[in-house]
Amino acid sequence: MSARPDGPVPLLLIALDGPGGVGKSTTARRVAQVLGWDYLDTGAMYRAATLALARAGVDLSDRPQVERTLAGLALRLEGPRVFLGAEDVIEAIRSPEITRGVSRVSADIRVREVMVDRQRALGRRGRWVVDGRDIGTVVFPEACCKVFLTASPEARARRRYLELEAKGKAPALEEVLADLQRRDAADSSRAVAPLRQADDAMVLDSSHLDLEAVVDRIVTHHRAHG
Ligand code: DC
Repeated sequence: MSARPDGPVPLLLIALDGPGGVGKSTTARRVAQVLGWDYLDTGAMYRAATLALARAGVDLSDRPQVERTLAGLALRLEGPRVFLGAEDVIEAIRSPEITRGVSRVSADIRVREVMVDRQRALGRRGRWVVDGRDIGTVVFPEACCKVFLTASPEARARRRYLELEAKGKAPALEEVLADLQRRDAADSSRAVAPLRQADDAMVLDSSHLDLEAVVDRIVTHHRAHG
């Protein structure tokens, strides 16, 4: 890791950003395993916040209630597991209702401030692989290694469809594609921290690569630039 005289001190952390359904979580978890680092799924954090607000019946326009719910958010991430209080919510945060609601919640400036603070508190000592939408641009602009993982909407929809099918759910492929495109548009056009690749990120198109090939390229890039 080389010091940059004109910029912040680089942080030993891999920022992995990209659109939904591109396989960021699986990739990030595997890269973390290969390097022996920790892994943080920031999408899971926004999903857990969405679940907590929905369960408390809080509308985003009710600012005092939003503040209270966020202040009391007993969110814990332990490896791949996500807890609200003592409850493991890993399944609940991936339900269709939460998936539909999360774009709106994650566009809320206060929700983002609270989540970004938590993410920085966790990752500031480095040796984390962090996946999300704004990790290389907003949360950890000083990350030594940034990757923007992408794939065609069709390739992403096909993967998500196969994932859902494996879980015994099989919506129409067109429906999965339309849902992905809706979320892409919402994530990319929101005013706060929109999905955007960092200028210094390596862009990796995984449309025709399998998981191990993607992991291998990221680890090689990290070893060359980290
Ligand atoms: O990666 P995912 O599908 O689990 O993310 C869920 C939602 O959270 C997605 O709509 C975008 C949002 N998100 C975000 O705004 N910023 C992040 N760093 C991570 C996710």
